[in-house]
Amino acid sequence: MSQIEAAAIEPKLFRQLLGCFPTGVAIVTTNTADGRPAGLTCNSFSSVSLEPPLVLFSLRKASSLLPTFVEAGTFAINILSQSQDALSGRFASSKIADKFEGVAWRPGPLGTPLIDDCLASFECRVHARHEAGDHEIFIGEVKHMGTGTADHALVFYKGAYMMLAESLRKLVLDGQLGTVDIDEAYRALYGTLLRLACDRATEAEVDAIECAVDRIEQHHSAEALPERIDAMASFFSSIALAGHNEALRLMAQTMTAVLRERMTHVIPAHPRTDIYPLRRKVVQCLRARDADGAVGALDELISTLRKSTGTLAES
Ligand SMILES: Cc1cc2nc3c(=O)[nH]c(=O)nc-3n(C[C@H](O)[C@H](O)[C@H](O)COP(=O)(O)O)c2cc1C
Repeated sequence: MSQIEAAAIEPKLFRQLLGCFPTGVAIVTTNTADGRPAGLTCNSFSSVSLEPPLVLFSLRKASSLLPTFVEAGTFAINILSQSQDALSGRFASSKIADKFEGVAWRPGPLGTPLIDDCLASFECRVHARHEAGDHEIFIGEVKHMGTGTADHALVFYKGAYMMLAESLRKLVLDGQLGTVDIDEAYRALYGTLLRLACDRATEAEVDAIECAVDRIEQHHSAEALPERIDAMASFFSSIALAGHNEALRLMAQTMTAVLRERMTHVIPAHPRTDIYPLRRKVVQCLRARDADGAVGALDELISTLRKSTGTLAES
């Protein structure tokens, strides 16, 4: 295992390595000063003490909800089941103004919002707050708790919900995931993401996609397989970021895990200089905000790889 010096703790890799620790997912809720329910998706929830019963979660200082949690002095932890992944996406999205619209909930004895069909809930009074870097740690004393459905927990692992990522990984490794299915999924998902990116990507985000294309083309020797896989994964993940849709980004992250798995274990990727211009075309079209052009170039890229090799990966 390679050791990484403290001075070189690069945030992106730090986040990626933290993702190696699987966590549950909760929605932490509270009330605004005028009595409306508020909340966010959170995987920093942890137990702290049995007697007294203490738990914690940490909240980004930049979160618009920080003053609300500070003022309210109470919060509830709602532990999500594996069938509540959509709810997790909803409460993690900055784009949805009223996160509770259409969500079934009721106030608990402390008045904090308890979401229906969760695995368990803990209503807390804030016991202590600690500033820690770019987060604020809220320690809560549990005043009430409840059990809910008997489903399995939603698990977040390596940046994706584990049931989906793990079941897809298993299908890939067992050779059960058809390449036609994968191609269709790529066309649908990245086609949509490219269209969104044409509308929403910043120039810096398009630069990041271009930088991934540069890296793919730099690592053309047969020995540079890990670097090439990494660059290809960054090409797709930077398109996913540029689409600015959290739910699609998570799906894309799962698809990238599939691509990595296939390129590492199923079909080792060799450089294919003939498709270099197609990735360049995707970038050019993104810069020109030409959605049809970008999607067309992606389709051509997938078709070319499929026609000549029968695989989506370069081989
Ligand atoms: C699985 C998952 C776990 C998250 N955990 C935390 C967390 O522990 N603390 C935090 O501040 N944000 C966390 N977030 C991000 C917030 O959910 C998100 O930034 C916030 O709710 C966006 O909504 P807003 O912009 O309306 O505040 C997490 C997101 C996801 C998808």
